Amino acid sequence: MPNGTNQAWTMASRPTGEPTPEHFAITESPIPEPKHGEVLIRTLYMSLDPYMRGRMRSGPSYSTPLEIGDVMTGEVVARVEQSESPLFEVGDTVRASIGWQEWAAIGAHIAKPVDPDLGSISTAVGILGMPGMTAYFGLLDVLKPRAGDTLVVSAASGAVGAVVGQIGKINGCFVIGIAGSDEKCKYTVKELDFDAAINYKTQNVSEELARLSPNGIDCYFDNVGGPISDAVFENLALKSRVAICGQISQYNASTPPQGPRNLATLIRTRTTVEGFLVYDFELQHEIARARISNWIKEGTIKYKEDIVDGFENAPEAFIGLLKGKNFGKLLVRVSE
Ligand SMILES: NC(=O)c1ccc[n+]([C@@H]2O[C@H](COP(=O)([O-])OP(=O)(O)OC[C@H]3O[C@@H](n4cnc5c(N)ncnc54)[C@H](OP(=O)(O)O)[C@@H]3O)[C@@H](O)[C@H]2O)c1
Repeated sequence: MPNGTNQAWTMASRPTGEPTPEHFAITESPIPEPKHGEVLIRTLYMSLDPYMRGRMRSGPSYSTPLEIGDVMTGEVVARVEQSESPLFEVGDTVRASIGWQEWAAIGAHIAKPVDPDLGSISTAVGILGMPGMTAYFGLLDVLKPRAGDTLVVSAASGAVGAVVGQIGKINGCFVIGIAGSDEKCKYTVKELDFDAAINYKTQNVSEELARLSPNGIDCYFDNVGGPISDAVFENLALKSRVAICGQISQYNASTPPQGPRNLATLIRTRTTVEGFLVYDFELQHEIARARISNWIKEGTIKYKEDIVDGFENAPEAFIGLLKGKNFGKLLVRVSE
């Protein structure tokens, strides 16, 4: 049993608007001792995801909000350091929702084994984990694209968006990405083979969409909401489909966000708009994980990770995620 200290990041106060470092506090406690049926795990990679901002907010949500002093929510890739269960051996790699902390003793049944043969272990919380599953099911089960469809995806270079666009290409779509820098746009077209990309910070999104998709947009995978979605709605095709995956442009809003401004266009286009959660498809995640792993191995799908070193840097990295500073799936490397 290792002696020493476990560090955890907690929510020190509830932000209104953009979170700042003062909203987070580091706490220390002894490394816990696993009981019968538990494993002691040590975090290797910590996933940082936009939904964590939602957990910092009080009020109705699909999940329980954090209280002041709670450890920040999150999933990690970890190594089993001590096992009091027949389910895992020391040295096994697992993923587990233990939040932003270095160590945890948890029931072995709630740790999920990570198969290193599927891909690099960090991808267990990235393209082979929650964001990859979100892209796969949001696209294939919610939007149901057909070959020849025009597919638009926002936050296109990110953990979810990059996978959406690439699976869209596999399915024969004309894919347009929307992202927040020329570098990110160039990456989606040159590296990921998207057909086109629009920098929403420097270009007129509605005009560019009209130019690139003269027959209208058949499928919109919405990661951001706000003015970008307004521009997409103006260019939807007849019988188009919109999957509401995320609304990151609204996550730091301190007043209730404004809804879509142009719903009347949906009458003309007979558009179907559907929200979804990745966990709606949990029973099928293993199938998707295996398929995405194969696509990576055969070189059909690429992925990019943005790895920040050091547990102490988690709040700053998370604050940056909400401003588009990450380029690819954001992870914190906590230990080797
Ligand atoms: N429904 C579900 O089950 C589910 C599951 C996972 C994720 N999600 C949602 O999917 C979306 C993408 O998540 P991710 O993990 O892939 O994150 P990500 O794209 O890797 O990172 C977030 C990106 O959002 C963009 N962004 C930030 N502020 C923005 C703003 N005001 N307007 C437009 N874009 C903004 C930034 O990219 P740019 O530089 O391009 O602006 C930033 O890099 C999020 O909304 C998340 O909440 C939903």
